[in-house]
Amino acid sequence: MTDKGLGWSGREFEVTVGPVAHGGHFVARHEGRVVFVRHSLPGERVVVRVTEDRHPGFCRADAIEVLEAAPARVERPCPYSGPGRCGGCDWQHVAPAEQRRLKAAVVREQLARLAGLDDVEVTVEELAGGPLRWRSRARFAVDRSGAPGLRRHRSHDVVLLDDCPITVEPAAAAVLQRRWPGAGAVDVAIDSTGAVTTTRLDRRGHPTSSRVVRPGGELPEEPVGRAERRAGGRDWEVEGTGFWQVHPAAADALVGAVAEYAAVRAGETVLDLYAGAGLFGGALAPGVGTEGRVVCVEADPGACAAADANLADLPQAEVWQGDVDAEGLGELLDELGTPDVVVLDPPRSGAGPAVSRLLAGAGARAVVYVACDPAALARDVAAFGEAGYRLAGIRGFDAFPMTAHVEAVALLVPEQPTSV
Ligand SMILES: C[S@@+](CC[C@H](N)C(=O)[O-])C[C@H]1O[C@@H](n2cnc3c(N)ncnc32)[C@H](O)[C@@H]1O
Repeated sequence: MTDKGLGWSGREFEVTVGPVAHGGHFVARHEGRVVFVRHSLPGERVVVRVTEDRHPGFCRADAIEVLEAAPARVERPCPYSGPGRCGGCDWQHVAPAEQRRLKAAVVREQLARLAGLDDVEVTVEELAGGPLRWRSRARFAVDRSGAPGLRRHRSHDVVLLDDCPITVEPAAAAVLQRRWPGAGAVDVAIDSTGAVTTTRLDRRGHPTSSRVVRPGGELPEEPVGRAERRAGGRDWEVEGTGFWQVHPAAADALVGAVAEYAAVRAGETVLDLYAGAGLFGGALAPGVGTEGRVVCVEADPGACAAADANLADLPQAEVWQGDVDAEGLGELLDELGTPDVVVLDPPRSGAGPAVSRLLAGAGARAVVYVACDPAALARDVAAFGEAGYRLAGIRGFDAFPMTAHVEAVALLVPEQPTSV
């Protein structure tokens, strides 16, 4: 794409770096223009080089020289990261505690800007395991010669890698220590038993073949099967490359936060929307008991099959395959009546205003919203707010160290408490 801004591409100049923004960059100003700077930190004095100038109002730049470093700047543990290099991580140059503080600031800023909620208390909690070797699922790119790597930031170029220090080592090795002629990308996932599933994708992103290799390698490769996971005191089966929290400690941490906010009681009805393999519904089902009811709604047939198997020992839990949209949800609520608790864990785009309004109208005593994008969360919190729900609590989790991504669990309750 050609640059269509003010012709600043490639220009170099000094700036003082301002606050963090959603997306992992920091806001600076130069000659009256906003400059989104990567590889920097608030308060730093840096020389930037403009990498993209497509809008009159702002341009993007990399800090290429640090004149005055912030105290939280550290040596990058990954040799492939840095300006113009692998685009997989945003904050290899930032001390992990500061990464969490920055993520909390982004969640707070999004809630203020998009939901009109000022000064919400947000803390982003550390997960066990440290900032490296946490990525248990990843997609790697493959170049025309079949060599694997990751893309440069906002580019189609593939940066070739021998290793990816944030990926669990056997998963990184399974992809990066061989070639993939003819593939466009490779997905990899490692489960709690150490089984590594690799899935080859064509250049349009469609899976073409998949393999599981068990630890030790003494077993022959086998066609894609089920991955085993443990969370919330239960074992879970998921399709080899099906959705599961990427960080090995995330599912447990999120189940804990969801259970705390949901605080389910015996006999209650719980709706688990965007349920995947049934993680939250299955974790809450024992609390409602056999006189209660848990309905998990999920669009993907493979995930529904996994959820059916995972919840087979919980007669109060059922799985509905279908889309969470205004029509499907309307029918479900007609059949179900008023749920006591709604848990929703939508994809990055969020639930959207129509679904949020419909859910608010359903009248649950608690809505527990699990979000991987603070902007989508804030927009949906605004829609719930207009429909009579207020934000009563929020916890952040550093489920993606070294990147600017953050997971959050929010509690929404009716402005007018429902009668018990
Ligand atoms: C972020 S994942 C959450 C899965 C699960 N809660 C977990 O933590 O393992 C989102 C899930 O929503 C499903 N999904 C996406 N769009 C959907 C829709 N419109 N209706 C129902 N499910 C959807 C995806 O297939 C995926 O399993």
